[in-house]
Amino acid sequence: MSARAGDPQDVLELKNEIRKLIDETQESDGDGDLELFRNIEEDWSSCARLSSGIYIILYRFSSMFWRALLHLPPLLGLVSAASDAAGSTYTDSTAVNFFIAISLFVVSFAVTAGALVLGAALVRNSAAPPTSARDMKGKTVIVTGANSGIGYETALDIARRGARVVMACRNTETAAKAREEIAEKTKNSNVVVKKLDLSSLKSVREFAADINKNESRLDVLVHNAGMANTFEKKVTEDGLEITMATNMYGPFLLTHLLIDLLKKSKPSRIVIVASDLYKLANLDLENPNPINSLPAYLYYVSKRGNILWARELSRRLEGSGVTANFLHPGMIDSGIWRNVPFPLNLPLKVIVKVFFKTPEKGAQTTVHLAVSDELDDVNGKYFMDCREHSLTSSVQDVGREKRFWEICETMVKLTPSDPRI
Ligand SMILES: NC(=O)c1ccc[n+]([C@@H]2O[C@H](COP(=O)([O-])OP(=O)(O)OC[C@H]3O[C@@H](n4cnc5c(N)ncnc54)[C@H](OP(=O)(O)O)[C@@H]3O)[C@@H](O)[C@H]2O)c1
Repeated sequence: MSARAGDPQDVLELKNEIRKLIDETQESDGDGDLELFRNIEEDWSSCARLSSGIYIILYRFSSMFWRALLHLPPLLGLVSAASDAAGSTYTDSTAVNFFIAISLFVVSFAVTAGALVLGAALVRNSAAPPTSARDMKGKTVIVTGANSGIGYETALDIARRGARVVMACRNTETAAKAREEIAEKTKNSNVVVKKLDLSSLKSVREFAADINKNESRLDVLVHNAGMANTFEKKVTEDGLEITMATNMYGPFLLTHLLIDLLKKSKPSRIVIVASDLYKLANLDLENPNPINSLPAYLYYVSKRGNILWARELSRRLEGSGVTANFLHPGMIDSGIWRNVPFPLNLPLKVIVKVFFKTPEKGAQTTVHLAVSDELDDVNGKYFMDCREHSLTSSVQDVGREKRFWEICETMVKLTPSDPRI
């Protein structure tokens, strides 16, 4: 058995292995198991504290050197004066000045580079504390966009916990491959792929009809799928702007069509993968179908929409046995950046590869919201790094949330026979 200290996924694997061993030897009383998990958690946080400590020291050193460089002219003046007083020639004092300046610059540069590299490594490898060890046997979980990125890692983690996982994907070929990998890695064959294109209202209805007909329960609905275009404007078959249709209106309709099954399976959960980049946009309620706006900007708009929607959803679900929470997964090295065109994609690739976290780490908060027992009664909250996080005041406006909800109902063409929330 081996585990890299500080890696929540490995911690989970290690824990699963330990649990299996204990089960096999019939020696577990549950408490010992929990104790072991706590120890692992403590190891993780001391490791995180240590690495952040090293980073802060390097950062302080680096800023100290650069500040010294700023004060170099008066310093060099002193050195010249001192060497003049000692009777050295002009050439000597210039050489000394030059040597000091170059040395200080090289040291500043080296320390800053070290701080940057270490910072990047820390950001990329940092993740939230290990999520709950809750077993999900007997539960059914839908993960949209589960064939790649954060969704794949979410499905993998939840399958490892024994749940039936429905991978709701638009590309059934790549999804089938991902499904094989997940089943192989987790030894859970109760993982299925179902076709879902969130940008098409028809596809959303077909998917929901299939689920309502064939699944006896739904414990967690994870709205993970999302897309971002940069400049390419596109309108769907329903006349909707594609980013808003995929990231906002499709999930809104899907939630309505599955709400009865979620209520029947209570306690159940809805998890919405939003983004902290909601701060970069405004949601114009007078223009809910912004077909002429810059698509790159619409990604942020759709994520802001996710937050208004999630807050209103959680209020409407209060007391129903279904909770709705939402999250920012962190900045993640995933396929979401794939539509950034040349040459903008070149510097972006470097930033993504150096500074962004892996999809595995990006899935931690989603998994936390989907499974953690401590969140059984938590509703309408925003999370980051597995912890509750505040929202800016500008995005919290109950009146606008209610109005946006009504707009969404119109955009997705809810019929009188559709369930209402
Ligand atoms: N990466 C980040 O830094 C970051 C930050 C904040 C929030 N997020 C959010 O995290 C979520 C997951 O994204 P990711 O980073 O893992 O990106 P990703 O690797 O591109 O995964 C996105 C998933 O959504 C699927 N998808 C796209 N359009 C769809 C549609 N019309 N119908 C059904 N599925 C569709 C994709 O399927 P295909 O493979 O067929 O395209 C893919 O499986 C998104 O909601 C994103 O907005 C990501």
